Amino acid sequence: MAGLAESLVKDDFRKLYGSAEGVRVFRAPGRVNLIGEHTDYNLGFVLPVALDLATYIATAPSGVPSGPGKVRIYSEFRKEMREWNAADLGALTPARHWTDYPIGVAQELLRAGFTIEPANLLIRSTVPEGSGLSSSAALEVSTALALLAGRPLDPLSLARLCQRAEHNFAGIPCGIMDQYISVFGREHSAVEIDCRSLGHRFVELPSGITFVAVNTMVKHALAGSAYKQRVAECAAAVAGIKEKFPEVESLRDVSPEQLESAAPSLPAVVARRARHVVTEDARVGRYVEASARGDLALMGKLLVESHRSLQHDYEVSCAELDFLVDTALAIDGVFGSRMTGGGFGGCTVTMLRPDAVARFGDQIARAYQVQFHVTPQVYACRPSAGAGEVNDREDF
Ligand code: GLA
Repeated sequence: MAGLAESLVKDDFRKLYGSAEGVRVFRAPGRVNLIGEHTDYNLGFVLPVALDLATYIATAPSGVPSGPGKVRIYSEFRKEMREWNAADLGALTPARHWTDYPIGVAQELLRAGFTIEPANLLIRSTVPEGSGLSSSAALEVSTALALLAGRPLDPLSLARLCQRAEHNFAGIPCGIMDQYISVFGREHSAVEIDCRSLGHRFVELPSGITFVAVNTMVKHALAGSAYKQRVAECAAAVAGIKEKFPEVESLRDVSPEQLESAAPSLPAVVARRARHVVTEDARVGRYVEASARGDLALMGKLLVESHRSLQHDYEVSCAELDFLVDTALAIDGVFGSRMTGGGFGGCTVTMLRPDAVARFGDQIARAYQVQFHVTPQVYACRPSAGAGEVNDREDF
């Protein structure tokens, strides 16, 4: 299977560019975040898993190394080919187009001292776009690997470089979670990331549960601007709390007691945002502990608490997400459910018994269809390996 898929992408590369000589294939996965939402840019904790949904880039050199030549990128999903002189990439400005992600990555590579060699690229992705499963991080990380074409860059620098591409070129002040998990994911494991130290530990999940993502199939226009607003509100919370507790550098540092004592002097909205972040950070730790004990009921309960906090305190949910969560909770075999990712559309993640998955998928799709006249996609979340070069032995 693995070899077959790889040779298929190589075949398509040959058809598109006329030759597959020297072609290499790189893969970077999407992710689903189990718990710890909107905590990463507050330097707290997150618990994502890398998925087997991934972006693959086949690439081969297209000219004389370090000489004049083109970088060509073809997106199968967009059915669109774009090309630039390799030497011009550093001077491009954002175009509000999907190519902002690869160009942003190329510019960060240049800034980090790498050259961009003339090359042909073919992008194939199984991460649904705009679904909140991190298709952009998968594109950034796979592009970085393809443009590096085997030149070494340590994994943490790779993740941070891709995050900078998102900040500087795509214009979203995102945290590190999506790029980090795309690089550091591991089969059968969730990854608890400390977004301040940028260290992580692998969390093996108990048996008897599985995770399913359900796609609302919507991405409300608000998503980008609201994200920036939340980042600013968290900064305002830190500034306010610091007046009383000067040692506080980020919401990560704030204890529930400190928040309670500082909250009356904060604007009400800002205090609610901070309450989400502070309680959510604590929930990640409790979830990991509950997982180690195999306390499935508590794990489920924490997922639901996370959702309610995102819904009411952080206000990044929407009618479609709330409907999917509430519907899931009424289905037999479900332990818990919550929105996952930035919010305002995208996916929910539901923790359930493996034997309940098929029935769950049918019931939730039917209910959503009746309510919103759209069929939601349902994805099994299989924890998968992080980014790298695809070789014949790897699953694809
Ligand atoms: C988006 C961002 C992440 C993170 C989540 C919310 O996916 O890219 O950095 O902030 O939203 O948890």
